[in-house]
Amino acid sequence: MNLTLSETEDKYRRIFTRLPYPIFVTDRKGFFIDVNIACIEFLGYHNREDVIGKNVIEFYVNPEHRDRIVAELKKKTDVRWFETFLKRRDGTVREVVLSIYTLRDKKGKIIGYEGILDDITDIRKMQREIENAAKEWRETFDSMIDGVMIVGEDKKIKRINKVFAELFNSNPKELIGKPCYSLIFGKDKPCTVCPQKRLLERGGSEIWDEHLYHLNKTFHISMSLIRREAKNAQFVYVFRDIEEFLDTKLKLKKSQFLLNQSFRGITLAMAKLVEQRDPYTSGHGERVSVISERIAKEMGLGEENVEGIRICGLLHDIGKISVPVEILNKSTKLTELEFKFIKLHPVTGYEILKNIRFPWPIAEVTLQHHERLNGSGYPHGLKGNEIIMEARILAVADVVEAISSHRPYRPALGTEVAMDEIKKGRGLLYDPDVVDRCLSLYQRDALGI
Ligand SMILES: [Fe+2]
Repeated sequence: MNLTLSETEDKYRRIFTRLPYPIFVTDRKGFFIDVNIACIEFLGYHNREDVIGKNVIEFYVNPEHRDRIVAELKKKTDVRWFETFLKRRDGTVREVVLSIYTLRDKKGKIIGYEGILDDITDIRKMQREIENAAKEWRETFDSMIDGVMIVGEDKKIKRINKVFAELFNSNPKELIGKPCYSLIFGKDKPCTVCPQKRLLERGGSEIWDEHLYHLNKTFHISMSLIRREAKNAQFVYVFRDIEEFLDTKLKLKKSQFLLNQSFRGITLAMAKLVEQRDPYTSGHGERVSVISERIAKEMGLGEENVEGIRICGLLHDIGKISVPVEILNKSTKLTELEFKFIKLHPVTGYEILKNIRFPWPIAEVTLQHHERLNGSGYPHGLKGNEIIMEARILAVADVVEAISSHRPYRPALGTEVAMDEIKKGRGLLYDPDVVDRCLSLYQRDALGI
C-alpha cells in the first residue's frame, strides 16, 4: 500500500501524539514548538496550547543541566539517558531520564531539539527502598551475636554473616560455595544422617548441641527450613559458641563441690570438738546423723531437707561445749544442779549456731531436740506442732542412739531397749509417724547402727 506524503505525515503525527512517553520539540532557544499528550500530562497541563511557547528551562530543577545538554549537543547529534529532575506545573518534582536529539538545517546548523523523557521517579524510589532494605538486612545479619549460615539444597553455603566467619576462623569469601558438611564436620562426603533431609520431609526446625572436634569448640546449633519451593529449599543455621558457658558451668560446679566439701568438713570438725571433751559419747553425733537421715528419707522428705537433718544430727549437741567435763564424764547419778547444767546445752547450741546462715533451720532444731510432744521436754516445754518436724525426727534418733550406746553411768542397753522406749513414748513424747518409720527401718535392719 502506497501512502501519500500527507497520509504518511498523518500516520507519524498519530504515533507521536499517542505514544505513552512524553515527547517534545523545541526551537534552538528551548521554547516548546510541539508536545504530545503524554508530555502535556507529565508537565501537569490540560491543553497543548498551554505548553507551546513556554521554555524548557523553567521546568528544570537544575537549569545548569540544560546548559550541559546544549553544550554537548553542539559537539554531537544526541545526548542519551541524561538523568535530571523536572518540576511540574504544581511544583512536584519528578526524576527523569532525558534523551535529546538535535534538529539541523541543510547546512548542519542547529535549529531546534527533539526530546523524549522517561519518568523514573517511582522506579528510583523502589530501587532506593530495595537498596535500603538490603543494606538494613545485611547490617542486621552482620551485627547478630550468633554465627548465621544459609545453605542451599545442594548443601553449598550461600551466605554467612561476619560472626560465622569468625567462629570458623575463615575469610567470608572463602566459605561461600563450600559444602556445609566439609566446613562443619570436616568431612569430604555428605553426612549419612542429614538433618536437612528430615526438615525437607516435615518442615519446622531442629536444635542441638554439637562439639566440633576439628575446631575444638562446642556449639548450640539451631536449624530451620526457610523456603520450600521445588528444588529451591534453603536452610538457615544459627551457631552459638557455648564453650565459655560450659567452662563457666564446669567451674561453678567445681567451686560448689569444694564449698560443700569445706562445709561438711567444718561441720564435722565442730561436732568432733565437742565430742573430744566427752569420750563416752564419741561418735554420738555421727550416729544420730545417720539415723535421722534414714528416718527422713523413709518419710519421703526431699533431698535438701534430708541433707539439713543430716547436719542437725552432727551439730545438735554442740551446746555441750559449755558443760563442765566433770559433769559430762560423771559415772554416778547427776545431782539436780548438774542436770540443770546439762539442760542448758540446747540454748547454748542455739546461741552458737543462730548467726550462721545455714539453708536449713539448724539452730532451731538444736534448740528443740529435747522438747517432747506432751510438753514435758526442755528448754521451753513446747508441745505438738510447736516442735518443728526436723526436731521431732532428731529427738527420736537421739534417744535411740543414746539408749543403744554406752554411757559413763551405765553400759549400752541395746537397740531393742531403744525401740521399746520409743514405742512407749509413741504419740506421747515422740511423733508417732517418726516412731513408726524408725521401727520399720529397725525391722528391716536398715537403721544404720
Ligand atoms: Fe542433746
